[in-house]
Amino acid sequence: MKQTPVYFQNALNQLYGLTDKIKPNLMVLIMDKNTHRHCLPLFLSEFETDIPVELIEIPAGEANKELKVAVQTWKSLLACGVNKNSLIIHLGGGMVTDFGGFVSAVYMRGIPYINIPTSLLAMVDAAVGGKTGLDMNGVKNLLGLYSFHIATLIHTPFLKTLPEREFRSGMAEMLKHGLIYDRKHWKKIIQLKNPSPENISELIKESVQLKLDIVEKDPYEKGLRKILNFGHTIGHAVESEYLNSENPLLHGEAIAIGIQIEAVLSAEIGLMNKSELDEILSNMIALFGKNKIEESSIENLMQWMEHDKKNTGDKINFSLLNGLGVARFNVELNKEQIIEGIKIYNRMLEMI
Ligand SMILES: NC(=O)c1ccc[n+]([C@@H]2O[C@H](COP(=O)([O-])OP(=O)(O)OC[C@H]3O[C@@H](n4cnc5c(N)ncnc54)[C@H](O)[C@@H]3O)[C@@H](O)[C@H]2O)c1
Ligand SMILES: [Zn+2]
Repeated sequence: MKQTPVYFQNALNQLYGLTDKIKPNLMVLIMDKNTHRHCLPLFLSEFETDIPVELIEIPAGEANKELKVAVQTWKSLLACGVNKNSLIIHLGGGMVTDFGGFVSAVYMRGIPYINIPTSLLAMVDAAVGGKTGLDMNGVKNLLGLYSFHIATLIHTPFLKTLPEREFRSGMAEMLKHGLIYDRKHWKKIIQLKNPSPENISELIKESVQLKLDIVEKDPYEKGLRKILNFGHTIGHAVESEYLNSENPLLHGEAIAIGIQIEAVLSAEIGLMNKSELDEILSNMIALFGKNKIEESSIENLMQWMEHDKKNTGDKINFSLLNGLGVARFNVELNKEQIIEGIKIYNRMLEMI
């Protein structure tokens, strides 16, 4: 199956060739409030065109990755006169590329689109691989489809305006790629002194390549692609639990917690040894701090996990680690094992 190309070198210049080929009657940029402010000026300074351009701004934040905002956006596309000959560009983080991918793929059964990720998380993960989605009733990505777009253009200078906390959040997915598929990638990231937009470009490329290798082998998640869900069964539950709280966690922050607890689970069922687990926990804590799970929220987390699309029967389906750099999918655990794993994780945090 043909992969959507990902461009790194002079990425925005690729737009000239792509628009020459597509010859769109209209280009629409979908952005959120922040990427409109911080990324559109840089984009316009790199790409000049005679093609008419319309701008659509959506509100920022995961809480807006939902149907009501999608309906408004479809109305805006209609009002702008978007049709099959148009081209849509998603300029933003993973919220914009997930949301925009869904909106563009559904509108008139699909308008060609290009992802231009502006957050680290979207560059290494959300904007590549073809998954799109909206959240509903607090359940992450409950609505969604696979949609293989024209291209992803990775232009790392966008990262200069990304808040530091968001940058760190993106690193969680890079670390995940190393943990599940390439131990060397994990080691390189944890050895990086003061990760910053300036010194991370090569690792971004490497991380994307790892994800693409996996997706290419299994685009529709029949098997191998499931390993990308490592850290996400617990991580999504944690993210949902805190989504409407006073201090919502960022996606990557929730996944960082998920990675640690799922590493504990991997060790508990004998897939990984203690020294590998210690290496994971100590490095994740160094980057993300200690995040204890309140005993009072464990039951809620279990309920969020039960909504997970990946489950069968009363067991919860996990992708776990089989050592550093190797993952195993379709590992089914029961509720007691998971609760015990969360408690062990809490106790280990006190010892590190
Ligand atoms: N489709 C997939 O395969 C996939 C994979 C991983 C994550 N995701 C999704 O990605 C989303 C998380 O992505 P995210 O962390 O990028 O969130 P996000 O899009 O909400 O971006 C984070 C914040 O940074 C701002 N921002 C983005 N780029 C900026 C820049 N260059 N300068 C200044 N501000 C900027 C955004 O406006 C937002 O406030 C989640 O919805 C998650 O489910 C999808
Ligand atoms: Zn993720």
